[in-house]
Amino acid sequence: MSPELVLAVETSCDETSAAVLRGERELLGHVIFSQDVHRVYGGVVPELASRAHLRTLDAVVAAALREAGVAVREVELIGVTAGPGLVGALLVGVAWAKAAAWALGRPVVGVHHMEAHLFATALEHPDAQPPFVGLLVSGGHTLLLWVPRWGEYHLLGETRDDAAGEAFDKAAKLLGLEYPGGPSIERAAAAGDPTRHPLPRPLLHGGQRPGDADYYAFSFSGLKTALRVRLQQLGGASTEEVPHLAAAFQAAAVEVLARKTLRAVEQTGCRRVVLGGGVANSRALRDELRRRLGAAGELFAPSLRLSTDNAAMIARAARFRYAHDGAAPLELNARASLPLPGLVR
Ligand code: KG4
Ligand code: ZN
Repeated sequence: MSPELVLAVETSCDETSAAVLRGERELLGHVIFSQDVHRVYGGVVPELASRAHLRTLDAVVAAALREAGVAVREVELIGVTAGPGLVGALLVGVAWAKAAAWALGRPVVGVHHMEAHLFATALEHPDAQPPFVGLLVSGGHTLLLWVPRWGEYHLLGETRDDAAGEAFDKAAKLLGLEYPGGPSIERAAAAGDPTRHPLPRPLLHGGQRPGDADYYAFSFSGLKTALRVRLQQLGGASTEEVPHLAAAFQAAAVEVLARKTLRAVEQTGCRRVVLGGGVANSRALRDELRRRLGAAGELFAPSLRLSTDNAAMIARAARFRYAHDGAAPLELNARASLPLPGLVR
């Protein structure tokens, strides 16, 4: 029998989060504590992240249970992000989850962070179910997947260098915009003209054919360099030009992501697309995908709260993983890089 009440924790990066999930979609309690300490450094400082998780995790879990009106003894399964992520940060969650599982006599399941991002949308949209084309775009990953069923992930394309979110963060830094870069760029771009500073569309051209090594591959590092070169030509990021540069960068990144996703839609013949990861927040990306998918297409994207790092998606993925693989042993460990379970290359 599958457990009805799952408690999950997420500590892979700079969000300390806990969630209580009943069944497949009933989110009874959900708390996300976003660590503020990294803002002054313009990026996540791993050691500070670990310490902040350690200080806040107990309180975050208690708050989620309180919101859910659930006593910790009622929890039937404990889920935790086991990787990939910052290893020190992950360890805080994994150690907490194993201790709780042992103390309560309940099973624990280690969850792959990116598989959880894929499950986030299913919490809000009952139809965000396989088969679908999945686009996972976060600060650390860019994965284009064909998902015929949960647990089977055919890798179509991934990034050869920077992840999509990382590219937004680096571009924002070049433009003097604050971290995290994606939302800052989106805000600045609203007042910009994307055609004023043409930027390249890396690894995207009309001559590519299915089967070509770069047909689905992404690369964002050259785009960031093109932005830097443009800035040098302009003699810096002036207040007048920043909105146009932000708009140009966003348009280039979004066009590559959307067109390659559409290639997957054409090739699989499946017009359902599911987005996951922080960059799924991008209104520009969603609009572009909707436009290209047309009326016959279905685009599912999580709400703001569920697209960035959160424990609700960990709880949902833990439920699936427990049914699929059973409980993890107490030797469960955190891993900075963890292969996606069920990945088919
Ligand atoms: O999934 P996530 O919260 O953390 C990771 O697992 O990495 O993703 C964070 C990333 C950051 O790089 C952030 O800049 C990006 O998501 N992001 C966005 C937007 N909102 C967040 N990128 C583009 N446009 C956005 N609106
Ligand atoms: Zn994430």
